[in-house]
Amino acid sequence: MEHPFAGRSLAVINDLSRDERRYLFAKTRELKEALDHGDIKTVDSFRIDDPDFGIYEVFLEDSTRTKESFKNAAQFHRAKLSALSAESSSFNKGESYADTFSNLAGYDNRIFIIRSKLEGVCRWLEASVSGYARRNRLPYVPSFINAGDGKHEHPTQELLDEFTFLEDNGWDYGSIHIALVGDLFHGRTVHSKADGLNVFDSVSVDLIAPDVLEMPPYYVQQMEANGYRVRKFSSIEEYLSQNDVADKWYFTRPQLERMGDRVLQRQDELREMISFHERFLPLLPEGTVFYHPLPRNKNKPELPVSLDPLPLNGWERQSANGRLVRIILVGLYGGLLGDDFTGDSIPEEHREETFVETVDTSGREGPKQYSEGVHPIDTGIVIDHICRGDTSQEIREHMGKIVSILGLHGKGGEWVSTSQEGASMLKGIIFRPGHPPLSGKKIRQLAAIAPGCTLNIVSEGTVREKYRLHTPPRLYNIRGLSCSNEMCISFPDHHEGVDPHFVRTEEGRMRCLYCEQTYGFKEVWR
Ligand code: CP
Repeated sequence: MEHPFAGRSLAVINDLSRDERRYLFAKTRELKEALDHGDIKTVDSFRIDDPDFGIYEVFLEDSTRTKESFKNAAQFHRAKLSALSAESSSFNKGESYADTFSNLAGYDNRIFIIRSKLEGVCRWLEASVSGYARRNRLPYVPSFINAGDGKHEHPTQELLDEFTFLEDNGWDYGSIHIALVGDLFHGRTVHSKADGLNVFDSVSVDLIAPDVLEMPPYYVQQMEANGYRVRKFSSIEEYLSQNDVADKWYFTRPQLERMGDRVLQRQDELREMISFHERFLPLLPEGTVFYHPLPRNKNKPELPVSLDPLPLNGWERQSANGRLVRIILVGLYGGLLGDDFTGDSIPEEHREETFVETVDTSGREGPKQYSEGVHPIDTGIVIDHICRGDTSQEIREHMGKIVSILGLHGKGGEWVSTSQEGASMLKGIIFRPGHPPLSGKKIRQLAAIAPGCTLNIVSEGTVREKYRLHTPPRLYNIRGLSCSNEMCISFPDHHEGVDPHFVRTEEGRMRCLYCEQTYGFKEVWR
């Protein structure tokens, strides 16, 4: 039977199910207790203990805790640890991520830990390097662990954060009330909390950030979709002026390196709104614990060092827990641990649903006829109901994209007309007299570009075939698709050869498989 964890990747926290994370925390707790009690035999049972087991660190952004705790975790396992010196590597000669990591995988390396400015790198490598592994008959599938990708996610930080919250909850998964404070816009550790905190049964989140550092709407919606209670405050002072204050506070630093000039000019004022001061201490509920992924700025810390000796200091234990959680993660993905896991894994997506609906054209009213102006169409195709409800200009622009992407050049025209649903509602129609019927592939592409439209195949003056097209569950392998997040690994200017790929959300939006930004269906086309 396939091992439940070996060879998997961790690009986002949701790559591990609730049950899998709870299993990981239980194992981490076992290891921590064994270390505390000096139980050498149990501690040794957590070691891979193989000097040929290859773990590779590739840090393309600065790090202390993540890099060094993974390094210490690899040393615990007595594994082969390597680190790529990115600044003197062939990245500088224009080599792609896929080529770089494929070659490193070929040197008997099984787990890669990657920090990058580009978002979605691990998701891309998971797919691209598995092709290399198959072609070259590697005896293992390499794992890619995201150690922070731009402002997207930091899933291993999320694991150690959750583990520490649980310790402080007395191992009770029932509920958590937490305040997230600071740069919620750029902070990837808090973005991972949108899905990560659902390891608890009931979640209440208070978001404390000035307007320009607010949590992006996508993550707020994700929290609400997960059933969290979400409240927003613009400063610590405002938060403390009401009486429902969380007993867990999670601070994040202002991510100056990701801010534009406009925000940087306000950095002192913004920092003040998200920094804690001793005068606030009496306003905290009893037993409050503070957490911080660190680093904190030595000149202007969000948490003053005077708080270090207080019982509310959870950040030091949190950081130490990082090594333990990462030891267990490496043990799971390395195939040592996890054989006895019995819970739910991430559900496989089975989305064979039909998004090309065949419409019966033999109705009571008889086959429909289409005319382009005064000329009835004898043979050809008519694409109707395009962008229904949009403005005339939006409809015309989108029809231009449809024609260009599907190569529907030639005789005919594009019209904006009123919809049967009301004279004020507009729709687009593309007429192509004489055009042969579209292939199945082209019909699926049309569904991707113009969901909601109908495709009519006209022959001998009447509509002989008619299809109503809906949004496909996935968009990929279509010319013209593009993620417009400049920091996404698939963004064309990075020339990484990544095929853009979008997955439909429950709300009908399209989410980039790599960076997870969501878009309306018209926004994913260049
Ligand atoms: N928490 C964290 O990611 O710290 P580093 O940037 O030092 O790795």
